Amino acid sequence: MPRQRVLVTTAWLRPGDEVHRFLESAGFDVIHRSFVDTADSGETLAELVSDADGVVAGTDPFTAEVLGSAPRLKVIGRTGSGFDNIDVHAASELGMAVCPTPGVNSQSVAEYTLGMILSCARRIPQSVAAVRAFGWDQVSGRELAGATLGIVGLGAIGRLVATMAIGFGMRVIAHDPKLDEAFIAQHSIEAVELDDLLGQSDFVTLHLFLNASTRHIMDARSLALMKPTAFLINISRGGVIDERALADAIRAGNLAGAGLDTVEEEPLPEDSVLRGLDNVLITAHIGAATVESRQRSGRMAAQAVVDVLSGVIPSHTVNKEFVR
Ligand SMILES: NC(=O)c1ccc[n+]([C@@H]2O[C@H](COP(=O)([O-])OP(=O)(O)OC[C@H]3O[C@@H](n4cnc5c(N)ncnc54)[C@H](O)[C@@H]3O)[C@@H](O)[C@H]2O)c1
Repeated sequence: MPRQRVLVTTAWLRPGDEVHRFLESAGFDVIHRSFVDTADSGETLAELVSDADGVVAGTDPFTAEVLGSAPRLKVIGRTGSGFDNIDVHAASELGMAVCPTPGVNSQSVAEYTLGMILSCARRIPQSVAAVRAFGWDQVSGRELAGATLGIVGLGAIGRLVATMAIGFGMRVIAHDPKLDEAFIAQHSIEAVELDDLLGQSDFVTLHLFLNASTRHIMDARSLALMKPTAFLINISRGGVIDERALADAIRAGNLAGAGLDTVEEEPLPEDSVLRGLDNVLITAHIGAATVESRQRSGRMAAQAVVDVLSGVIPSHTVNKEFVR
């Protein structure tokens, strides 16, 4: 009987690494094809999954069409907590397990969020760029202590951001339809409605999953509620912000700036409306990109693939009841 095959599309997992060796030692043929590998070769995801039994997946689009061309596929182990790039409904209809890696990258993402808040508050990237260009402009910023941080989505990452921000002396307010009451009481966090949060915050940070109810939650109306001195931080998913409305608000001076680690289309298109705005800091979806987080999430995704292909359904499978 031919060996089962696992396709790895996560760009930071490479041939010969720990995950590769783990999958091989579990008895699988392993092939690596990330968007970096296929940029020149022209191979499509649909072709690549056509003979795969399992996938360790990055943020590639596993659409219904792609999944429909994978007759042997049983499991997608997604190296990350978000799984909006996978059509879970289609996967469920086909009996495939979708297993992200919740929780294992929260610390890295929360630390990065504070880094983005500090970068906006003190204009660190702009100063670095100015000095590189032989300038010496001593720009002034603002302290975090005493400023109000509004957290939209007080889940695993949002809660860590809250405790870190409190360590900086920030006042933290939060909006989440499923608030952890014990947590907010313990940390003296005020629960508020979204509109109130937007009106009160000096920094608004979004820690939401992208779905039909959160898409463009930051649109022209909600952006208009923010203070003109406030910054919007997004380390979750680009689709939660209407980028055109954000660019308009910043150009009009209705918002001080933004720090974004994720954008609606990645990599950022050359003609993006967000280009050319000095006070919009954009990084390449690296919130979880630490050695520690990648190790944990690579191992967890690969373990899920091995488990499902051995007949064991991991408890964190998002569509457990549909797996065949
Ligand atoms: N940039 C990166 O590299 C990176 C890395 C990891 C995770 N993420 C993203 O971070 C996001 C949050 O991850 P998490 O692990 O904290 O998730 P989580 O599920 O623990 O928390 C999400 C929270 O959002 C709340 N929520 C849902 N709808 C809401 C709404 N309309 N308004 C306010 N709150 C709402 C939920 O109740 C939940 O508490 C996800 O989108 C994930 O994809 C990004």
